[in-house]
Amino acid sequence: MSVKSFDQQFAQHVASGLDQHPKKLSSQYFYDARGDKLFQQIMALPEYYLTRTEFDILQNNKKEILASMHNGFNLVEWGVGDGKKSGILLDYLYENSIDFTYYPNDISSNALLGLKRSVQEKWPGIRVEPIQGNYFELLKAPIWNREKPTLMLYLGANIGNFNPDLTKRLLTSMRNSMGADDKLLIGFDLKKDPEIILSAYNDSEGVTRQFNLNLLERINRELDANFDLEAFKHWPVYDPESGYCKSYLVSTCAQQVWVGALGKAISFEPAETIFTEVSRKYSLTQIQDLAMENNFTQEKIFIDGKHLFTDVLWNPR
Ligand code: AVI
Repeated sequence: MSVKSFDQQFAQHVASGLDQHPKKLSSQYFYDARGDKLFQQIMALPEYYLTRTEFDILQNNKKEILASMHNGFNLVEWGVGDGKKSGILLDYLYENSIDFTYYPNDISSNALLGLKRSVQEKWPGIRVEPIQGNYFELLKAPIWNREKPTLMLYLGANIGNFNPDLTKRLLTSMRNSMGADDKLLIGFDLKKDPEIILSAYNDSEGVTRQFNLNLLERINRELDANFDLEAFKHWPVYDPESGYCKSYLVSTCAQQVWVGALGKAISFEPAETIFTEVSRKYSLTQIQDLAMENNFTQEKIFIDGKHLFTDVLWNPR
């Protein structure tokens, strides 16, 4: 008899998240191979303004963003994904023969290998040192040469997916890893017309719905569960006061779901929710306050003409 092995960390997360009231699961588990593909599709959706807006911001301001970075610096990028956005900066550095070492980070070593290959093909000679793993761990013992100035990139509004405690922890870890000449370029999605925000998380093609439901499919696939995907609704809500855009999966009926890896059934009442993701939106004042609270000075703000998104450049204080 073969004994199936399950990812214990994922199984434990699902066990504790679905045992709570209200139930919750972390959006960090969205990103398996299928989730990565769906996220690529989301970034190309007409309603999902974030990616193309940040792209334009970087394109329009690359010179100013990189103005104080001279030969020999480190470019450290957290959560690189497909690397398309930072490619704008790499392209500029390459064109201007500025020497640097690129340290892209991701949780997936496969994605990093592919990225290293494509960077070296596109810009021969660029030094690429992938750093695979969890930000918090890697920030404790930086492997880049700290004698040289470092520009850290944290793009894509990823910071919005953290709760306030984790946001503080991450910014503190980044700040503590930085020297006086280092800088952090960080992307925030801005508060705006609530309809624009809600459509970005409830697109007309239903890709974001599939992305959210993929979490249940992943539990079915990896933890031998039998979630009926038709019996859960994708439900994003946006609160314009707090700036929290939260996504839920709502059970459409009373039901029991068997999770083989946990050896137990989970009960749902009609309309019971699973909270799956926060995508926080900020005002410019909140961003400035966040910089101050975490011992940064805000050097520059880069923003698009429609005031949708911003990348800000912070220095350690
Ligand atoms: C990765 N992150 C910044 C995306 C966001 O907008 O919060 C993830 C996402 N969730 C639904 N659509 C996109």
